[in-house]
Amino acid sequence: MADSNSETKSSNQMWGGRFASGPDAIMEEINASIGFDKKLYAQDIRGSIAHATMLSHQGIISAEDKDKIVHGLNTILSEIESGEFEYSRRLEDIHMNIEARLATLIGPAAGRLHTARSRNDQVALDFRLWVKEELQRTETALTGLIAAFLDRAEEHAETVMPGFTHLQTAQPVTFGHHCMAYVEMFGRDRSRVRHAIEHMDESPIGAAALAGTGFPIDRHMTASALGFAGPTRNSIDTVSDRDFALEFLSIAAIAATHMSRLAEEIVIWSTPQFGFIRLSDAFSTGSSIMPQKKNPDAAELVRAKTGRINGSLIALLTVMKGLPLAYSKDMQEDKEQVFDAAESLELAVAAMTGMVRDMTIRADRMKAAAGSGYSTATDLADWLVREAGLPFRDAHHVTGRAVALAEQKTCDLADLSLEDLQSIHPSITAKVFDVLTVEASVASRTSFGGTAPNEVRKQIAWWRARN
Ligand code: ARG
Repeated sequence: MADSNSETKSSNQMWGGRFASGPDAIMEEINASIGFDKKLYAQDIRGSIAHATMLSHQGIISAEDKDKIVHGLNTILSEIESGEFEYSRRLEDIHMNIEARLATLIGPAAGRLHTARSRNDQVALDFRLWVKEELQRTETALTGLIAAFLDRAEEHAETVMPGFTHLQTAQPVTFGHHCMAYVEMFGRDRSRVRHAIEHMDESPIGAAALAGTGFPIDRHMTASALGFAGPTRNSIDTVSDRDFALEFLSIAAIAATHMSRLAEEIVIWSTPQFGFIRLSDAFSTGSSIMPQKKNPDAAELVRAKTGRINGSLIALLTVMKGLPLAYSKDMQEDKEQVFDAAESLELAVAAMTGMVRDMTIRADRMKAAAGSGYSTATDLADWLVREAGLPFRDAHHVTGRAVALAEQKTCDLADLSLEDLQSIHPSITAKVFDVLTVEASVASRTSFGGTAPNEVRKQIAWWRARN
């Protein structure tokens, strides 16, 4: 018997080479989560204090035991925060590491803390608290990014640039208006964050393993002590649910997708060919071989982080998709995805905020580009409809001929003479030149949400009142 025992403990000859002591070590390695869930220490301690306080309030444990538990947990909190705490992988996870230390510190009273509780509701609570706090940090970070864009938009409400479709010059717009497009995007991200906070604002603690408990606990009391709107309503769902993590990841993936599009524009705009912006030294790097280069590395890395964040969302969706109710250990794989995505998202928002605040806008280059590519052709067509009474389709055709003539003469539409234009359509008058400049074009687009500087200023004011 002793022999066969030592047999299983020794390293397996076929595949155990890197393991010191056979299957036990492998089990420990695949099972332990302490390497990453130690990030939840503060939430775990907060949850345990609320739980112990409720147990004592309900007469389930004595007041003396509760005091010992709370004191011990606070001691552990400072041990962890000062770096003295020794984590043990043998104790698997943050919950058992803390509970074992509590037993060393206060003795048998520590064993009463886990009354009417399971690690299943405990981990659901800790993780939910962490994600909720991360969502609050995300909300603040997005508010900073929105503020950066509002400032740039205000500064450049009149700065004309080409607007693109298919990355081909389409119509003149203002840089302020383009900035406000990102304000809308990040504003939607932020409202998704706010909804998610509301959505997940229910306390899991007290669901126990999956069925609830026979002890006379007060789940409303723990919920309000932990800052939740109330307790969750179904104990099976409570320990099976990771929607809050999936919601965080999907919000992060959408926000990262927005940032990736911005990053792509920054990469394009900062090329010598476009030259719309100059990145600050703080957010670019040089090349080790080509002295003339200034590379938009920060923007490129934000673009790349999006791949990573999207990957986390898909990974967790895939972990969850086939799980029967209620808890399965698969769910332990939720945390690294969320922690990694959260770190990437925080970094990406901070880098974007810095880039937007620091970049130099080259208004001359933007304006020159806005005027090329016959960007005011639609204005000519609109003028023909408005002033000469042409149906839009005819006006479109006449304008196409004017563009062809300008192309032939290698000049802009505004450089064609009145005779040139009248040769194409006799009802064109000199007044047409009022709409052929890029400034006139943007000033004319006064429809709600349009690019006219005054309209852009209205949108800035609307957002300022809400940021
Ligand atoms: N470390 C585990 C996790 O992250 C805690 C819950 C363990 N529960 C269990 N029944 N083994 O999911």
